[in-house]
Amino acid sequence: MTASFPSLRAPAAAPGDAPVLVVFGAGGHGRVAADAALASRAWSAVLACDRREQLWGSELLPGLRVLAPGALRELPRPWGLHVAIGDNASRRREARSLLLDEARAAFLASVVHPLAALSPSAQLGPGCLLAAHCVVGPLALLGEGVIVNHTAVVDHDCTVGAWAHVAPGARLGGAARVGAGALLGSGCSLLPGLRVGDNSVLGAGAVALRDLPDSERWAGVPARPLHRAPV
Ligand SMILES: CC(C)(COP(=O)(O)OP(=O)(O)OC[C@H]1O[C@@H](n2cnc3c(N)ncnc32)[C@H](O)[C@@H]1OP(=O)(O)O)[C@@H](O)C(=O)NCCC(=O)NCCS
Repeated sequence: MTASFPSLRAPAAAPGDAPVLVVFGAGGHGRVAADAALASRAWSAVLACDRREQLWGSELLPGLRVLAPGALRELPRPWGLHVAIGDNASRRREARSLLLDEARAAFLASVVHPLAALSPSAQLGPGCLLAAHCVVGPLALLGEGVIVNHTAVVDHDCTVGAWAHVAPGARLGGAARVGAGALLGSGCSLLPGLRVGDNSVLGAGAVALRDLPDSERWAGVPARPLHRAPV
C-alpha cells in the first residue's frame, strides 16, 4: 500500500511548534497507539519505529512506514516517545533502554484518543495510552506507561500502578487499586475498592470479588487463583 495518508502530515489543529511523536512498537498495539496519536492532532508528525529489522519499511498504518531505531538520532528535539508494546514488562524495559540510548533527546509521551473520556481531575503519568471510548473517572491516578484500552473503565478514585494494562472492556469499580505491571484481561470486572497486586493477572471475563495478591493469575466468575500442575 503506497497511498499517502493525509493525517500523517501536520494536522490543522496541531500547534505550529508541536513536537514530533515516535510510536515505538510496530505490532497491533502500535497500530492502536499510532491511530490514537493521529486522531489527537496533538503532534506535528507521527512516526513509527521498531527494533525488528523485518518490519523496517513496512507500513504500520497506510502511509506510515516503520523506521529503524538509528533514525531517531536524526530527529529535531525535543520529541515525544510513546512505547506501544502490549506486554507490560517489555514495554517498561524498552522505554528504559530507549531513553538511555537512542531516545536520549526524547520525553516519554502519553497519547489520548479524542474519544477517550478523561476527567479533568484525573492524573496521568508520562507514557500512558488512553484508547478510544475508554473512561477515566474523577480523581483517578494512572502511573507511568499505563494502558487503558478500548472501552475500558477506570472509575472514580482508582489508582493504576506504573506499566499496568487495563485491557479492552475491563471495568474497575470506584477506588479500586491496580498494582504496577498488572494485567486486567479483556472484559474483566474488579469490584469497587478491591486491589490487584503488582504483576498479577486477572483473566479475560473474570469477576474479582476479593483482593488479588502480588504476582498471581486469577480467572473465572468468581475469580480464583489458577494453579499450574508441577512440571
Ligand atoms: C488468565 C490467563 C492469564 C491464563 O493464562 P495461562 O496462565 O497461560 O493459563 P492457561 O491458558 O494455561 O489456562 C489454565 C487454565 O485456566 C483456564 N483459563 C484460562 N483463562 C481463563 C479465563 N480467562 N477464564 C476462565 N478460565 C480460564 C483454562 O481453561 C485452563 O483450565 P484447565 O486447567 O482446566 O484446562 C489468560 O487466559 C487470560 O485470560 N489472559 C488475559 C488476556 C487478555 O485479555 N489480554 C488483553 C489483550 S489486549
